[in-house]
Order: sequence, then C-alpha cells, then structure tokens
Amino acid sequence: MSAFKEISPSEIKNNPFDLIGKDWALVTAKNENSCNTMTASWGGVGIMWNRPVAFTFIRPQRFTFGLIENEEYFTLSFYGEEYRKALNFCGTKSGRDFDKAKECGFTPVYDEKAPYFAEAELVLVCKKLYAQDLNEESAVEKDIVLPNYNGDDYHRMYISEIVKVLKK
Ligand SMILES: Cc1cc2nc3c(=O)[nH]c(=O)nc-3n(C[C@H](O)[C@H](O)[C@H](O)COP(=O)(O)O)c2cc1C
Repeated sequence: MSAFKEISPSEIKNNPFDLIGKDWALVTAKNENSCNTMTASWGGVGIMWNRPVAFTFIRPQRFTFGLIENEEYFTLSFYGEEYRKALNFCGTKSGRDFDKAKECGFTPVYDEKAPYFAEAELVLVCKKLYAQDLNEESAVEKDIVLPNYNGDDYHRMYISEIVKVLKK
C-alpha cells in the first residue's frame, strides 16, 4: 500500500525557496520502456491562468529534455537530506549513460500519468500547459542572465498545471 496521501497544492507547507533552491527537486519523465530523472534547483510554484502551476527550466542538452518534450506529464519530487548524494548523482550524470534510478536505489512508481520514486517525501504531478525558450533579446538584466548561457543552451521554461500532490 502506498505511504502517500493525496493533498491539495495549498496544503503544501514547505517554503518553496528552500524546497526548490536548497533541498532540490528531481524532474522525472518516462520514455517507451523506462524513465529518467535529473536534479533541478531552479524553478518555482504559483498560480497562472487560475491554476496551481510549477515553473520548470530545462536546458536542451539534458536527456530529460527529450523525454519531457515527448510526454504530456512529468513529476517534480522532493527528498529527505539522506538522498543528497543521490540527488548530486542525478544532477551530474546523464540518463544517456546511466540508469540513474537503479544506481541510486530509487524505486520507480508509474502513476497513470508520470513516474516518480517511492522514496520521495513530496511529489507534484505536472501537466505541461506552456513551453517557451528563454532568449538573449528578452533578458533585461543582461549582466545577470547571460553569463549563464553560451548562446545555444537557453533553458526551455515549462509552465505546468500541478494536477496531483502526494505527500508522505
Ligand atoms: C543542484 C543542481 C541543480 C540543477 N538544476 C538544473 C535545472 O534547474 N535545470 C537544468 O536544466 N539542469 C539542472 N541541473 C543539471 C542537470 O541535473 C544535469 O545536467 C543532469 O546530469 C541532466 O541529466 P540528464 O542528461 O539525464 O537529463 C542541476 C544540477 C544540479 C547538481
């Protein structure tokens, strides 16, 4: 039996600055026969078009990028401090070279919509609503924004509806 309980987005008590920026998230999506995950520490949650949403930023060179592009849903999941090493691994190694779930001892759970891991404390199931590439022309504070890019690796921003929240 699942240890997760479904809650509403407004019942999430974690501070989003800490949850995303300090604790980090795993962004997980599936392909034909498996799934892949990568660490993310940039992004946010909020309200857009009157819906609870997550803002996620993925560079095009990530293996995860292609998976998210091909799928309607993905998940953001959050873990206890004991998984920091695993999250470091998932943020420095590519699914092109490793089965990261296997390497980290994560147990994939295939929700009807998108995969996540049984070890998570909190899971947001996200449905893509909007995707747009960041670009040089749109940068207002160019000194802050542009040093993060080399010209062809601008993040794609995904605004996704949070359709389900699972908490342990
Ligand atoms: C702490 C941390 C945060 C990261 N945040 C992001 C992010 O928000 N967006 C992104 O595109 N890559 C981010 N990365 C880099 C990816 O996690 C990393 O390139 C990963 O190896 C990609 O895996 P993949 O090729 O299997 O998709 C982050 C890495 C770390 C360690």
